[in-house]
Amino acid sequence: MFYNKSIFITGANRGIGFELVKESLNKSAIVFGTFRNKSKSKELYQIKSHNFNSFQMNVIDEPSIKEVSNKLTKPIDFLVCNAGINNGFGNFFDKDHSHEKMLEVLNVNVLGCILTIRNLIKNLNGNAKVILISSTLGIQQHTGATATIYRASKAAVNNVMVSVSEELKSRNITVVSFHPGWVRTDMGGVNATLSAEESAKELIKSFKNLSLKDTGKFFNYDGTLINF
Ligand SMILES: NC(=O)c1ccc[n+]([C@@H]2O[C@H](COP(=O)([O-])OP(=O)(O)OC[C@H]3O[C@@H](n4cnc5c(N)ncnc54)[C@H](OP(=O)(O)O)[C@@H]3O)[C@@H](O)[C@H]2O)c1
Repeated sequence: MFYNKSIFITGANRGIGFELVKESLNKSAIVFGTFRNKSKSKELYQIKSHNFNSFQMNVIDEPSIKEVSNKLTKPIDFLVCNAGINNGFGNFFDKDHSHEKMLEVLNVNVLGCILTIRNLIKNLNGNAKVILISSTLGIQQHTGATATIYRASKAAVNNVMVSVSEELKSRNITVVSFHPGWVRTDMGGVNATLSAEESAKELIKSFKNLSLKDTGKFFNYDGTLINF
């Protein structure tokens, strides 16, 4: 089901995005991966596969997305909006919740998804799947006082996912969001329960099973439904 399918992954140079690239290549997909800085993308550059292409792109810089859109030679079957940031796990009194830092989190996590989809829409295949990497921290029923703006950003990602899914339903495009698990990356930290490789393997398995009946839904990495 993944052989010769094309998958476009933002934030592909490290963490979950990088493992999604590797797992997709293992499954014989054609992979497009984006990075921001060459200097932070050494591992990505070491991938030697004729099925892999990398592009410099910042999800909050529309011209950079348009440039990539114009360079793509194959329609996208799976668009994975994975790039994201967290400004720390403090509450809103914490210095990490300065106005500037909060705007940055909302900008990258929420607007970054919208800008990516808007500018790559013409590259999507007829029955493409658009996947927003969200988080269970964005679920509305919670009792956590920490990571205030990160939670809000992921709640917004799920909300945006619903709007976009409604918009694209008539084009047979499936739009969903996924929680990748608590994953050992720079963001997830060393105590997280899953390796990035384990998360990516399960995510790819779950992506393969998606169809239009799933549109507008939020899933765990193992494909189980999450109420948000
Ligand atoms: N790790 C977890 O436990 C966990 C749990 C739930 C959800 N998530 C979500 O999973 C996704 C991936 O997280 P991760 O743990 O792999 O994080 P990570 O290791 O910190 O990697 C984040 C990736 O996003 C890229 N990125 C950040 N801002 C960008 C921008 N403006 N334009 C393009 N790329 C940008 C980074 O590129 P640079 O190298 O250039 O910074 C990097 O490739 C995120 O959306 C995150 O919120 C993670």
